[in-house]
Amino acid sequence: MSLEDKLNAALTSREKRLIRRRLYDPSADAHLVDFSTNDYLSLSRSPALRARFLARLAAAPDVLGSGGSRLLVNGHAHAALEARLARFFRAPAALLFNSGFDANAGFFACVPQPGDAVVFDEHIHASVHDGVRASRVAARVPFAHNSIPSLRAALERLRDERPALVSGGSSVFVAVETLYSMDGTLAPLLEIVETVEELFPHGNGYVVVDEAHSTGVYGPQGRGLVAALGLEDRIFARLHTFGKALAATGAILLVTPLVRDYLLNYARPLIYTTSLSNANIVAAECSFDMLEEGEAQKVRTLVLYTTDALTPQQLSTQLLSLCAHLTTSFAAQLAARRIPTSLLSIPTELAELPTPIIPVLTPHPRPLSAHLRVRGLNARPITWPTVPKGADRVRICLHSQNSVEEVDRLVSAMIEWAESWQAAQDAVQREKGGAGAVVVAQAKL
Ligand SMILES: Cc1ncc(COP(=O)(O)O)c(C=O)c1O
Repeated sequence: MSLEDKLNAALTSREKRLIRRRLYDPSADAHLVDFSTNDYLSLSRSPALRARFLARLAAAPDVLGSGGSRLLVNGHAHAALEARLARFFRAPAALLFNSGFDANAGFFACVPQPGDAVVFDEHIHASVHDGVRASRVAARVPFAHNSIPSLRAALERLRDERPALVSGGSSVFVAVETLYSMDGTLAPLLEIVETVEELFPHGNGYVVVDEAHSTGVYGPQGRGLVAALGLEDRIFARLHTFGKALAATGAILLVTPLVRDYLLNYARPLIYTTSLSNANIVAAECSFDMLEEGEAQKVRTLVLYTTDALTPQQLSTQLLSLCAHLTTSFAAQLAARRIPTSLLSIPTELAELPTPIIPVLTPHPRPLSAHLRVRGLNARPITWPTVPKGADRVRICLHSQNSVEEVDRLVSAMIEWAESWQAAQDAVQREKGGAGAVVVAQAKL
């Protein structure tokens, strides 16, 4: 078979399994209400941020390009942003990467040493997988999503098998995210840290936290869940990305000065690439200004309203349901994780606040998403292999600028879809039209 035939066969196979990825036509999305992007604070459309950015650009000494790798051209703006973010996030040192993907891939490929182990939540981002695959580590162990018993079992097994882990002669890295983007679940971070510290009293258990989706959303000034919990000194490395709530590009890795120095020498996605352009740095600076001024609070009121509207009673059919963690109150989830609500800096009346990511499970995510589009609403279908089989969903992402009226439209449109889908299926059943008729009836919706 020629290369062309092989590539086509792979794409056709994806097409048949309904998992072929495609770029959306941006002009088709322009008029839709955004329930899809990671722009949680709506900063990408903020007139205040835009004005600030344009003014700062106009005044900046350097705007275009960056001239090369950080190792060749250590831009003044880059170094200043690192120093600022080390202070903002209360970290000993900070290192910029061109993206969160590069930071994870670069860190995990080089920092864990031969003989070390990496243990990771089964839902961890692809960039961590890529880094670990490129590393010199043979022991790569997943644990069940957010499960402390599963993490403990994995760590205990590793200790039993590897005496150097008990003596402190080798290390284990535990990779987790704070807010998982597919389920909107929050990591039990305090228990994770406590478990690792208990099992590795020599201090050779290292927790590495990816705050991509919690940056700007949780913690004082949106500094993330680690800051909300006051765990800064007990986390080995923290990643904050700029591309989601901050509406910019790039990422900062918060580490010790030693690890920073090591990454400068060994992290290939940092060494062999042109560093962020000066305009990117100005944009990130402006977004952090907004966080410092309190932008993070705004999305929280709307999140509460939406989860109330999507009560489990309304959404508990086979066609539409909420993930289990959303049917338990957020206050109970926080209590289970021993997170005081005050530490998340949310007002008490918002103590039931879940995350701005609300997955609505359905066996038919594409037709539901298509129905929403016709109603002017953009909420994307997420299907296997991005999520496990049987956990297909339409994911709703909320933003500061979504209005209550838009949320009402979204909820009604979902219920309207479920009712008409069900009615069509009932009609088909009554007529005993067989499988073919089901397809025809569904196609009409
Ligand atoms: C959890 C997580 N980590 C890392 C990344 C990568 O970040 P970036 O988009 O800056 O490459 C993403 C984004 O897709 C993410 O969701």
